[in-house]
Amino acid sequence: MHLHKFEKIWLTFGVACLVVFVSIVGVSAFTQDHTPAGGLETIDPEKVDQTAPFDHPGVTQIDDNTYQATIVAMTFGYEAPDLKVPVGKEVIFKVTSKDVVHSFTIDNTNINMMVVPGQITTKSYTFEKPGKYLILCNEYCGSGHHFMSTEIEVTE
Ligand code: CUA
Repeated sequence: MHLHKFEKIWLTFGVACLVVFVSIVGVSAFTQDHTPAGGLETIDPEKVDQTAPFDHPGVTQIDDNTYQATIVAMTFGYEAPDLKVPVGKEVIFKVTSKDVVHSFTIDNTNINMMVVPGQITTKSYTFEKPGKYLILCNEYCGSGHHFMSTEIEVTE
């Protein structure tokens, strides 16, 4: 009788631990907007123009301290009108390509992301100094590669 009781207690404890563990993993993975390990945000490269948020590229404010910059890369340029963000705020860059592999590289920052068609590349960055920053392509993508650039303005 005693053994049976302890078995029950341990079984309940085991199940409770499992539930707690799974909840912690699940909640931290999804509430912080992390893609699960090995997961990847994908997109149909043929339908970039019709797929949110790339149907309206540019800067949108998410909350008091966060902005999102959505950018479409293509041969040979970046589609992102009015790239302007305030200094000292988190900017979440979301970039995809309509055609071949490009890069999204911002001069004088550690942002240097590869942009692959079919995938959405995301990186968060906070500019510490105002000014104009050059954005360029670091990945050879064809005859116009050297002209592929734009800029982002960081305002006070
Ligand atoms: Cu795009 Cu090089």
